[in-house]
Amino acid sequence: MKEIAYISGDFVELDKASISLEDRGFQFGDGVYEVIKLYDGILFKGEEHFKRLINSAELIRINLDYSVEDLKEIAFEVIKRSDKNKSGSLYIQVTRGVAPRDHNFSYTLEPTLVMYLLPPKSLPNEIREKGVSVVTLVDNRWGCCNIKTINLLPNILASQEASEKGAFEGIFISDNDIVLEGTGSNIFIVKDGVIITHPVTNKILSGITREIVFELARERFSAVEDPFSLEDLYNADEVFITSTTKEVLGVVEVDGKKIGDGVVGDVTKELNVLYREYKSNPDNF
Ligand code: PDD
Repeated sequence: MKEIAYISGDFVELDKASISLEDRGFQFGDGVYEVIKLYDGILFKGEEHFKRLINSAELIRINLDYSVEDLKEIAFEVIKRSDKNKSGSLYIQVTRGVAPRDHNFSYTLEPTLVMYLLPPKSLPNEIREKGVSVVTLVDNRWGCCNIKTINLLPNILASQEASEKGAFEGIFISDNDIVLEGTGSNIFIVKDGVIITHPVTNKILSGITREIVFELARERFSAVEDPFSLEDLYNADEVFITSTTKEVLGVVEVDGKKIGDGVVGDVTKELNVLYREYKSNPDNF
């Protein structure tokens, strides 16, 4: 099986691909990334993800000399040249580039651009139907969570903690008890028929799935972007999380407390169906 990676101009076999020890991504986590879902070898919302990548790079002052079209072309080549299952995801990483170790950086560095395919991470249907449990954790991240940085230490530690507590996902809560997002997902609640999710600020990543689901929710139900508290989360009728790989996933337990009747709610189920319909329409890619 041939797995091909793109590294700054070259297409190489994944197991032969290498990065310099002095790449600033390796040394400082100085870079940004995206994960794009593939359906039968076609990027789902490629445009939106590449725009977000370019924006994240700009926000950390990386001069990325690639347009959305350039990035799409490279992605297309990686997919074409790889034998890997084409229903996984495309991983894209941009770092500031290679330089002798120094906290300060030069704007003349050539950014490192990497793309390769990740295997499918599909959830067993049983988990989707039953829903998952989550635990809440104090948000100890920096103040720019709108940037999709590869510097994911707080996220991976929180995810590990959640997993060791037997939960599927960890949910970050701010100092003043506001529910922000998951370690790798956005979160929604449903209360008295209204769907609520945290507004797009620097406290959360503006998820592409969140955006699609919010629009679908607005068309079919009543949906608002409003901060909500931990108390609201515990008392919600329904809770669900969204991400590129998790799609729409019902949450039935938070910190050991049952949500609603402890089963995936009707609104969540319906949004799941609407999301599946949406992604099965090629016009929406
Ligand atoms: N994570 N919030 C955080 C902190 C995330 O890392 C992610 C995605 C999301 C959801 O964004 P989107 O709907 O655009 O995937 C929200 C990806 C999937 C990851 O790190 O693997």
